[in-house]
Amino acid sequence: MLWYAEIFLAFLFFLFLFHWGWNKHLPIINWPVFGMLPGLLQNAEDVHNFVTRLLKYYGGTVEFRGPWFTNMNFVVTGDPANIHHVLNRNFSNYEKGPEFREIFEPLGDGIIGSDSDWWRYQRKVLQSMIKSRKFELFLEKVSRGMVEKGLIPILDHVSNLGIEVDLQDIFQRCRPQLVFWLVATHASVEAKILEEIKEQLPANNENQRVFSVDELSKLVYLHAAICESLRLFPSLPFEHLHAVGSDILPSGHSINPNTRLLYSIYSMGRMESIWGKDCLEFKPERWISEEGQIVHVPSHKFLTFNTGPRSCVGKHMTFILMKMAATAVLLNYRVEVVEGHPIMPNISVVLHMKHGLKVRISKRRI
Ligand code: HEM
Repeated sequence: MLWYAEIFLAFLFFLFLFHWGWNKHLPIINWPVFGMLPGLLQNAEDVHNFVTRLLKYYGGTVEFRGPWFTNMNFVVTGDPANIHHVLNRNFSNYEKGPEFREIFEPLGDGIIGSDSDWWRYQRKVLQSMIKSRKFELFLEKVSRGMVEKGLIPILDHVSNLGIEVDLQDIFQRCRPQLVFWLVATHASVEAKILEEIKEQLPANNENQRVFSVDELSKLVYLHAAICESLRLFPSLPFEHLHAVGSDILPSGHSINPNTRLLYSIYSMGRMESIWGKDCLEFKPERWISEEGQIVHVPSHKFLTFNTGPRSCVGKHMTFILMKMAATAVLLNYRVEVVEGHPIMPNISVVLHMKHGLKVRISKRRI
């Protein structure tokens, strides 16, 4: 009996070695029984960059196989043609799925968790409200208050003390902290932003720390720097959908009813095929045309704010808030990232830095 067991184990070991030898050149191995799960777990610490490598290797779309008899198979894509198809052209065939509805159930019938006519109605109301001039002025007033009464006093205090602070705590995990990190580590970008502010808004004086919405709209280079940081570090690194009926993606992949589809917004911001050879560089200039205007990149390629009928309604608002905070901080303070501080995106539904963002803040004299 023992003899049979030994032969069986030796046979299994041989099969394992043979399978490994045959597939070791692949970025992820599809093992019998365990599927691709071991490879995924091995790279869990740096999953966003791992998925980016997989998508590049497989030409933009990969079918992930989970362990046998589990419901863990899904299709991962970062191919703009697939994204356009799924989120625009064949939008009605893809929905958020039961897990998503469960998460948002406690929030009731809000716009994010709801579907169909009720969602359509809420979206229309919200959009018409956000687009109105009255709302823009209201937003300006509220944001000005937040910057003047919240942000500036904290930064004044911290710069007076000369201590290290975690910018992630100050901004409570919102995007501007990444803009500051990217700007602080790219001296030429910082200089260009300051130059633009001085050139476009020369009226500013010691007391004017917060600009109006109209003034902020003149800052093209700053707008480009924000687009660039949102490209490299989107707030939502990935999203997932469930197919209702069968479909064929433009890449040729077949989709069966109930197939889970995951799209990586993080990877799409780092694809050479979309952004060119310098896709990993922080280069606001890529967003500026020869005429000095912001280049329009279709939303199914720059996916940070999603695309199609469910795209983000707060995009314009986000730029106002980020520009207001960025100008107030950059004009008045110098932000220096503490040397040797590790910067690593965390595995999470919302992207943030695993070790925070330790900086030193000092007053800027212009
Ligand atoms: C950096 C800032 C922001 C980013 C990157 C962002 C990104 C996104 C993304 C990716 C979605 C699609 C979510 C999904 O379908 O699961 C979305 C939806 C949405 N966003 Fe934003 N968002 C931002 C800020 C805002 C702000 C400030 C508002 C405030 C009004 C807002 C309001 C919404 C709403 C209401 C939806 C749901 C739209 C719908 O389902 O029809 N967002 N956003």
